[in-house]
Parts: sequence; C-alpha cells; structure tokens
Amino acid sequence: MCGIVGYVGNGSAREIIIDGLKKLEYRGYDSSGIAFDAGGKIEIRKCQGRISNLEAILSKETIDAHTGIGHTRWATHGAPSDVNAHPHANSDGSIAIVHNGILENYIEIKEWLAKDYEITFKSETDSEVIAHLIGIYYDGNLEDAVFKAIDRMRGAYALCVVAKDEPDKIVAVRKDAPLIAGIGHGCNFIASDIPALLKYVREIYLIENNETVVVTADNIKIYNADRQEVKRDVFHVNWDADAAEKDGYSHFMLKEIHEQPKGIYETLHRRIDENGEIVLDGIKMTKSDIENFNKVYIVACGTAYHAGLVGKSAIEKMAHIPVEVEVASEFRYRDPFVDDKTLFIAISQSGETLDTLAALREAKRKGARVLSVVNVVGSSVARESDDVFYTWAGPEIAVASTKAYTTQLMCMYIIALYMGRTKGTIDEAYYKEFINELALIPDKLEKVLADEPKIEELAKQLYRNEHVFFIGRGPDAGVSYEGSLKLKEISYINSFAIAAGELKHGTIALIEQDTVVVALATQDRLFEKMLSNIQEVKARGAYVIGLAKEGNADIEKQADKTIYIPQCIDEITPLLSVVPLQMLAYYIAKLRGCDIDKPKNLAKSVTVE
Ligand code: G6P
Repeated sequence: MCGIVGYVGNGSAREIIIDGLKKLEYRGYDSSGIAFDAGGKIEIRKCQGRISNLEAILSKETIDAHTGIGHTRWATHGAPSDVNAHPHANSDGSIAIVHNGILENYIEIKEWLAKDYEITFKSETDSEVIAHLIGIYYDGNLEDAVFKAIDRMRGAYALCVVAKDEPDKIVAVRKDAPLIAGIGHGCNFIASDIPALLKYVREIYLIENNETVVVTADNIKIYNADRQEVKRDVFHVNWDADAAEKDGYSHFMLKEIHEQPKGIYETLHRRIDENGEIVLDGIKMTKSDIENFNKVYIVACGTAYHAGLVGKSAIEKMAHIPVEVEVASEFRYRDPFVDDKTLFIAISQSGETLDTLAALREAKRKGARVLSVVNVVGSSVARESDDVFYTWAGPEIAVASTKAYTTQLMCMYIIALYMGRTKGTIDEAYYKEFINELALIPDKLEKVLADEPKIEELAKQLYRNEHVFFIGRGPDAGVSYEGSLKLKEISYINSFAIAAGELKHGTIALIEQDTVVVALATQDRLFEKMLSNIQEVKARGAYVIGLAKEGNADIEKQADKTIYIPQCIDEITPLLSVVPLQMLAYYIAKLRGCDIDKPKNLAKSVTVE
C-alpha cells in the first residue's frame, strides 16, 4: 500500500528517496512521486506506473536537492494517474504533502476551502485537500500550520509535509498509519516502513499514534497530541539487510517459500526449552487468566485469517474452549459478544492492517484480553496488544504471504498446547508427542520442497486453465482456502475453495468435463470420506490433483495426479500440505507471465478500510 520516504541532510535527497521508495515497492502501488527543495521553490515530479517511470523523468535533469519527500500511491480516492499521484501542493506551490491513508472528512473541508478561499483542486484525491488546508494556516512555522490542520482532519493517515520557506525541515504526523523517523549522521529520515531506511540507518524512533515529528538535518523532535515534546527511546533495528534481498531466487515469493523450514524452526525453538517445555517469555497471561476465558475470537484478514481457521481446530481440541474465527472487517462492525472472559487473538504479518487493528481496539474496549500473533516487531498491532507472540518468519516481501502463514500456524499450535496444558485438558503423553511432531516438521518440509520439479511439471499442465477448485475436510478445508487464495492472488485464475462435504449442496453444479479440482486428503480419519468426494467430482468429468500423506496410495486409484507429503499427525498437516499449493500457484503464475511479487490490485500491508 502507499509508502512514504523523506530526507533532510547534505546527501542527494533524490537518490535516497528513490532508493527508499524502491524498497517499499513490494507493498503494492500504482504511481509514485517526489517533492524537493529547489532553492526558493518546491519542485514536484510524479507519474503513474512504476518507479522506473519516475526515474526516467528525473534522469533528464540535474537536481541538487537536500530536502525532499517521496511517495508510492495505491489508489483509493481517484484512479491511478499522473495528476492523482502524490506529492500534492497548495495553490501557490509553497506547501507539498504526501499522505498514506484516508482523510474521511475531505469533502467537508474541500467544500469549505472552495467556498471561503476560492480554491480549485487539480486532482480527485482526498490528499490534495490537506496541502491546501495547511497552506491557509501557514504563517511562517510549518509545525504550527500542521497542528492546526490536523485538528480539522478525521481519518487514518501518515502525513509528511514540506514548506518552501523552511527548506530544511519536514513535519510528519502519525494517526493510525505507520511512521518511523530514522536517525542519521548529519541527516535524518522519515518513512512509513523500516525497510525503506535499512540501507542508511539502524537507529530509529517509532512514532506513536497522534504524534507529530519535526525532522531537520541535526534534530528529530516528537510532539504528542497536546503539542508537548516527548522523549522516545531509540529502537535498534537488527534485521539483516540481505534478508530483504532475493538471494538468487527469481522472486521473493519463491525465496520465502524456501525459507519456511527455517522460519518454522525459529518460531518453535524460541518458545520451547531443551526439556520440551513451552516458554512464553514476555507473555503475561497467567494460569488464572487462561482458566477465566470462556470464549476465544481469532480475528484477522487474508492469509492470516486462514491461519486462524487452523488455529480454531487446535485450540478447541486442546483447550476445550469455543473459538470463533472472523475476518476483521466484519468483526468490527457487528457488535460482537466480547467481555472480560474473552481471549481475542489478532493474527497479522505486518501488524499494520487497519481492519485488524480496529477490531483489536474494539475487542479491547469491550474488556477482552488481547494476544497478537505478529511478524513485524514494534508494529501497531504488537504495540496495542496485551501480549505478543512473534512469528520468526523474518521480513516477508512478496505480497502473497507464504512463510508468515506457516509460522502463524506454528504459533497457533504452541498457543493451543500451552492453553491445553495449563487447563489440564491435554495429558502429558499427548503434549510430548505433539511437541516431538512439531520439531520434525522443518526436515519434513525440506522433503516437500524437494518435490519442486514435479510441481513445476504439474504447473505446465495446468496453467492454461481458467477455473480451479480446491476441496478438503477438517484442517484440509482451511488449507484449501489458502491454496485457492494463493492461486487467484498471483495467477489471476478464477479459483474457489470449499469444504468437500459442502460441494454437493450447490458448487458441484460447476464441475464439468476437465474442470481442475485439487483435493486435499491428508486427514487419516477423513480419508475415505474424501475419496468419496473425489469420486463425486470425477463422475462429472473433473481432472483431480490429489494431495495425501505418503502411504495412502489408495488416492491414486481416484486422482489423476497425486502429490504426497510426509507422514505426520493429522492436526499438523497444514504445515506441510500448504507448501505444494504455494509452489503450484507460483509456477502457474510464472508460466502465465504474471508479476508474481507485486500482483495487480493487491498491497502487502493494507492500511485503509
Ligand atoms: C493483504 C495481503 C495479504 C495478507 C492480508 C493481511 O491483503 O495482500 O497477503 O494476508 O493483507 O495482512 P496482515 O499483514 O495483517 O497479515
């Protein structure tokens, strides 16, 4: 989704900002732009399309600017176009802004500015209104003008502003959208995301909600909503910058698929001591808290929601508590039944998904205890939760989530085990066996990954199909949804997933000669039921790809092609079975010539409703 980078110092603002914006490309965008101080005036260059288009424009001129702000836009108000791209300026070009998020009362402000100040607007965006608003309040001090403007603004945003008359200053505001300030030597930075600055700084300030930050080359001042200056601890980023590069893989997605054994290993081993006991360092939830819960909500979006579906089965089975799983955008507006006996689990890779964050706040307001499963350290979801269970996936760059999902699954199993053990609803033998089985997964996953050439061959056979169905039962149903989402996200094939037993209640009408059906049959206790479901679609002409555990060769009698995963207990097959589906989606999308890491219309971190 939209990205922001700002720079003040002696270096080349243009180069640093473009470089930072490129690091944010993975978030998804449709246009980009930059505003820079050009000695007594602000110049803006912006255009639709990739950052390379912007670079082509900039390469035609010599620009020696030391202050600037840049943006990648993901359209919300107004189509992707040169004029709707950010930065936006006020009428005389003395103020320029970039903006992530949505200004909810922009129509009201726009009408007021048009009527009282006769301002005309160039773009269809909500963001342009902010530039004019700050412009009318500007009286020689940019932060004063910004403070006045934000008093009138409603919505969720990160905003970054420069003024012609204060060429060495950037003022930025965080309101429900991520913002960080980077501490350089003789220069300072502002950005919406850490990867944008990793090449330049490791020391950052995490800007809190409703804070305004004033950045100059030698100072970063942070103010709270009451305009009091606040002190903030420096946050040291110890990410490996190389981890954010492709390491020779043709796409981040493929690299991240291959990083799953490591991510799963890390996520497990950081929570299990040498005696196989779960250690929840930093998690304050007590035995009596766990015993007090009578209900669990798991709330998330997209792939994280699918991890929640598997989490539900695990928690209900082990902790004997009813669990509801819901997409965050629905949960927040439905007045859900939540009280102080509710455990609310938010799952989010980015920790910045606005719907998830809003649902979390709603649950907290109603008294729930909030535990989040998050990948990005220090993200909003992490900071606003009572307890955080981090996934150790490392930075996930590809828009289509892979390693975040499997590490989220691992967290859900550990949480379920911990709750079950604490409540005494699982016994010692079950607990030990489960932990041992989890510990074997990274090696088993390497075996699954070794089947990559076979999956690539299968992709060659399937990539021209325009419809693919995924079916499964129990945990396999949850994985079917995820496999289907992967395929549609990156290959744009119309794909549909459904619980296999539900197929006969309508969807089977769509099965005809050669329709491709991916049938997940990894559950021993449901294996025969799945064979019947496979027969049902075969009888209508479907071409079936079966997915089963090694040793369950009976599936070959029904399916046209079979993919095997190593033997493991039924509950944890999703950790293995999703991986062939990720690879299948990847190779199909590759053969279709799709932009795999940056699929059309999608964003990595969705910070709007
Ligand atoms: C976007 C991404 C998905 C992701 C979802 C939730 O839609 O494209 O891949 O699953 O957001 O993101 P989160 O960061 O909250 O896990």
